[in-house]
Amino acid sequence: KQGINVGLLGLGTVGTGVISIIKQHQQELKHQVGCAVNVAKVLVRDIDKKRGVEVEENWLTTDPAEVCCDPEIDVVIEVMGGVEDTKEHLANALKNKKHVVTANKDLMALYGAELLHLASENGCDLFYEASVAGGIPILRSLADGLAADRITKMMGIVNGTTNYILTKMSQEGSQYLDVLAQAQELGFAESDPTSDVEGLDAARKMAILSTLGFSMDVSLEDVSVKGISQVTDRDLHYCEQLGYTMKLIGIAKRDDDRIEVSVGPTLLPNDHPLAAVNNEYNAVYVYGEAVGETMFYGPGAGSLPTATAVVSDLVTVMKNMRLGVNGHTVHAPLHEKVLKEDKEIDSKY
Ligand code: NAP
Ligand code: HSE
Repeated sequence: KQGINVGLLGLGTVGTGVISIIKQHQQELKHQVGCAVNVAKVLVRDIDKKRGVEVEENWLTTDPAEVCCDPEIDVVIEVMGGVEDTKEHLANALKNKKHVVTANKDLMALYGAELLHLASENGCDLFYEASVAGGIPILRSLADGLAADRITKMMGIVNGTTNYILTKMSQEGSQYLDVLAQAQELGFAESDPTSDVEGLDAARKMAILSTLGFSMDVSLEDVSVKGISQVTDRDLHYCEQLGYTMKLIGIAKRDDDRIEVSVGPTLLPNDHPLAAVNNEYNAVYVYGEAVGETMFYGPGAGSLPTATAVVSDLVTVMKNMRLGVNGHTVHAPLHEKVLKEDKEIDSKY
């Protein structure tokens, strides 16, 4: 077989970005992994819809089995969103020995442990860098770059839509509903933007970061959440007069075995570095006992930034395929749990 065959679930904002990068960076990808990447099938709801990328003949299907069960497909990229049906599609893909890359925080915050375990059982990779902070490689940094440290606190802006809304309302006097509509138009918001504006999207991301950073199971129920839907022009005006900037901030702290995770609108002094993070940009501070303070900054939403994280995960999967080490290199929440339950790893390594 020539090259590695990829199937996509979804061809919306992120999916079109994934296709663009695979096409435009074909040489770079080939150079890194030593073989071509071929898109074989793409699941969509509406085959006749106009797409933002050139779609090749026979790519589109409305049958998930044509992606998740086709023996010719090596890697399934999930960029469709949703939870219950999507989980079933990915479970089928893993049982059919396909590696999985996903951008879906709703799914990973709820069923991450189960899917990672299934991946490990089937000798497959499951990566999900794009699920937190779009184009910022924060999961890799926690799992690999800071693996030696004991993380004590993480704090930051992890939702692009709300940061875009607050920036435009406070700096340009835009109206909440108008600017929310712009965020949807630009592809930053979730298909149901309630999860953005009510803080749930940020809470899921903080749960994923905490699980990974603190090596503990943290779920959405553990996070105290408040969104920005009640924030008014008047609130922002007073903030400005007092020398503060309002941001939707996620904070996760640990003290011995106790952890506290919250998301809520927060007043920051104007000279605080997070006060200067504008529009759809995200930033996360990570405090480690040994490293001290580190800050990660970049685009937190949008087609190409998010697709960069997705395709970078794909590159890791392909490198692992070439090396024959899939299923043992999980940069993931519940890493510890997956490894503990995988006896083979102890004996093999
Ligand atoms: P989107 O623009 O709404 O695209 C969703 C795609 O999935 C569409 O192509 C849609 O098909 C397809 N789809 C959805 N439900 C389907 C179903 N039941 N059966 C078949 N196809 C289905 O969404 P998106 O913004 O790309 O987001 C995708 C995922 O990435 C979500 O999990 C989101 O949370 C995550 N994410 C998004 C961003 C971002 O900036 N947008 C950033 C990070 C992570 P049709 O086109 O035919 O309707
Ligand atoms: N709706 C999300 C956001 C997309 O605005 O941050 C990126 O996860």
